[in-house]
Amino acid sequence: MAFEWKERYMLGIEEVDKQHKKLFEIGARAYELTRLDNAYDRYDDIMEVLKELFDYAQYHFNYEETFMEKHNFEHLPEHTKAHNYFVAKVKSLLTREIDDEQEETLQEITDFLSQWVSTHIMFEDRKYTALFK
Ligand SMILES: [Fe+2]
Ligand SMILES: [Fe+2]
Repeated sequence: MAFEWKERYMLGIEEVDKQHKKLFEIGARAYELTRLDNAYDRYDDIMEVLKELFDYAQYHFNYEETFMEKHNFEHLPEHTKAHNYFVAKVKSLLTREIDDEQEETLQEITDFLSQWVSTHIMFEDRKYTALFK
């Protein structure tokens, strides 16, 4: 399952790991929706999950950026850029007319999410962990 939390995602920073787990939980809910019967209208559920993802991702990114800023982290500009890209992508999904494309949209959300979140944690977030020690 794409949204199963794995040991290798752990950065060893309690609050950050907690927030990352929460992102995976939201992703898992989107994934659950892909498994429902197509006859079922999932529009409201999709919007709810996306809205929560949009809000929580911003909360989490702010937390990280504030921390990196405080420690003059050298990769802050490109890290912030990666965060902004993610937020813009979720926003574009939120404002898209998805009523007739629920299945495609859900597939796109879950593919994008599972790819981006795990890669970002393992390669980008990992870079700032030394600052926490
Ligand atoms: Fe993160
Ligand atoms: Fe990050």
